[in-house]
Amino acid sequence: MQIKINNKKYAAKVGETIFQVCMREGIKIPTLCGAKYSHEGLCRVCVVENSGRLITSCNTKVCKDMDLVTESEKISKARRINLELLWADHAGKCATCKKNRLCDLQKLAEEYRIENFHFVPRRGEMTSSEEQKLLRDNWSRVVVENENPCISRNSEFCVECRRCINICPEQKFGFNHRAGDVVVGTPYEKVLDCSFCGKCVEACPVAALTDQNDFSKIIKDLDDLKKFSVAVIDLEMDGKISEQLKNISHEQNFEKIFFDLGFEKIIKLEEKERNEEDEIIKNIRTEYARKEKIDPKNICTFFISSKIYKKVRKNEYLDYVLSEREVVRLVRDRGNIVAGKMKIKA
Ligand code: SF4
Ligand code: SF4
Ligand code: FES
Repeated sequence: MQIKINNKKYAAKVGETIFQVCMREGIKIPTLCGAKYSHEGLCRVCVVENSGRLITSCNTKVCKDMDLVTESEKISKARRINLELLWADHAGKCATCKKNRLCDLQKLAEEYRIENFHFVPRRGEMTSSEEQKLLRDNWSRVVVENENPCISRNSEFCVECRRCINICPEQKFGFNHRAGDVVVGTPYEKVLDCSFCGKCVEACPVAALTDQNDFSKIIKDLDDLKKFSVAVIDLEMDGKISEQLKNISHEQNFEKIFFDLGFEKIIKLEEKERNEEDEIIKNIRTEYARKEKIDPKNICTFFISSKIYKKVRKNEYLDYVLSEREVVRLVRDRGNIVAGKMKIKA
């Protein structure tokens, strides 16, 4: 069939969504909840006009003779209002947020030049006790959970896009409370317990689901002049990413970084048939430290992996397990820091 988009005719197949046709034809439409993750039409950021009527493009199937417009003042206004409404229920603490500069909601707010948040109450604006109670009730349902080893959860940031619900292969997320009080979380808000595949963290557009780590401690250790920071890259890591890590590692104050070759070298060095990463990390704190004449207690060990479940490996020999996302965050927070540390020998 043929449909019209922005006054131009395009071929479309039965069953395709407007969004799919637009993506194929290189017509940009913003999305937050949908497209890749669901077709529930929740955020309404993807609205377009069909013969003057606003419809969501991610879950509306094409039909013959559709006459669509993807950019207009009406569309832009609707997208802005929808973004503002999402923001109203969001923590909005960008400056200190783990996802600052990496957040989909923030990017859209910038793109749509949202400067005033009409639905976010300001001090003094909520006067009646009923309004204040509503606000208190809203925040009373916020859940912060840092008890599982891999994923940090903070529902203060959640925009209820349901991406995590749709993507989790183990159905670990769902809705708690009802109607206007609804919050996305684990059943009865129990501590997250799963195989930690990391798909939900990857999918979450905001900072409601993030990598578990004490970032301020990491930065303190990396910049500590007494510490010798050694990073080991997961053997299973994609070669291209490993190469990028090699480039930034020194700038981020890692004194030594071991890639595949490095591991083999260490193993040969010790003349032991060890190929387990845990053993290699143990070697760094013991035999490598001895060889390099570094006090083992001054060695800080990092393991960098794209597998979030490897965070459980943290032990007496391994201080931190960082994901690729966290390395990106490190670069974002610190820019190009020129290595200023000196190796402290024992
Ligand atoms: S880590 Fe994987 S299994 Fe665990 S909750 Fe997230 S998506 Fe589900
Ligand atoms: S936790 Fe993240 S992915 Fe899940 S509903 Fe909230 S914002 Fe969406
Ligand atoms: S992306 Fe279409 S409604 Fe959210």
